[in-house]
Amino acid sequence: DWTTGNVIEEQVEAIRALVGDKRAICGLSGGVDSAVAAALVARAIGSQLTCVYVDHGLMRKGETEQVEKDFVAATGVKLVVVDAEERFLSALAGVSDPEEKRKIIGREFIRVFEQAQAEIIADEGPAVEFLVQGTLYPDVVESGGGTGTANIKSHHNVGGLPEDLEFQLIEPLRKLFKDEVRMVGQELGLPEEIVQRQPFPGPGLGIRIVGEVTKERLDLLREADAIAREELTAAGLDRDIWQCPVVLLADVRSVGVQGDGRTYGHPIVLRPVSSEDAMTADWSRLPYDVLARISTRITNEVRDVNRVVLDVTSKPPGTIEWE
Ligand code: XMP
Repeated sequence: DWTTGNVIEEQVEAIRALVGDKRAICGLSGGVDSAVAAALVARAIGSQLTCVYVDHGLMRKGETEQVEKDFVAATGVKLVVVDAEERFLSALAGVSDPEEKRKIIGREFIRVFEQAQAEIIADEGPAVEFLVQGTLYPDVVESGGGTGTANIKSHHNVGGLPEDLEFQLIEPLRKLFKDEVRMVGQELGLPEEIVQRQPFPGPGLGIRIVGEVTKERLDLLREADAIAREELTAAGLDRDIWQCPVVLLADVRSVGVQGDGRTYGHPIVLRPVSSEDAMTADWSRLPYDVLARISTRITNEVRDVNRVVLDVTSKPPGTIEWE
């Protein structure tokens, strides 16, 4: 029988048996997957788990605060926050290729964890031998680990791991789809805002800037993304869409007219999609007045953006993310 209770019970037992009296660390990304994976492992091994939140500078507005406050309040879990923005930005400097960006971000992530691990080990306790990851079933399938399908994208939490990985992985959500993960999270007592959170990719805004990733571009995209999210929430549309990537076409410029005259700015792409499991998706038919408000606000409030465009492609042929 598939029930959330059974899934939790089964995983808790398996995790306890696997970890024994050793310790585990878990990276929190701010998303549902890592939060539920961490909460599940915390249920199994309590204080033998330390969560590490890497602020890679590719997060959306307010995301770090949400992890620090809401998640810790809900789980009581031990959390270490690492500010690694400069490290990620210098590793990404000059890189435009999407797969290369993913590999760099994945690699730096693991390196930062290794540093955090060293510090946690140094605090005198059992060996830290395990790394918890919120890998879902669709991630496994799309990276070729499931039914032999071709590797579509090297998702950083599956195919993009470096070869010098030192941890044994715990992936308690490996057999679950997103809606099942949300039910498990709810059963574990996580707050609604975390459980119902829309998916956000591990590499963050790094793969939502088409072109090189820089601090300036990230700040610009963060503003545009915050406006889109604010308006979608205000319109009560959060439950109707699966997610809405907001993408900056950093290498594209177009002519506009704003304020006193001619501008030569960047386009922002809105990519609202509806989906059951992210394997396939359709573009969301958002109300025109909501689109109009988002467009007006972004072009008024975000410097260097003079155009907002809507992505009306389903998946396939387009993936949900642009990179
Ligand atoms: P695509 O773009 O492949 O995305 O249609 C499918 C779903 O996966 C998310 N996504 C990722 N999640 N690490 C993640 O944890 C990644 O590298 C990654 N790439 C894409 C995407 O947001 C969508 O929900």
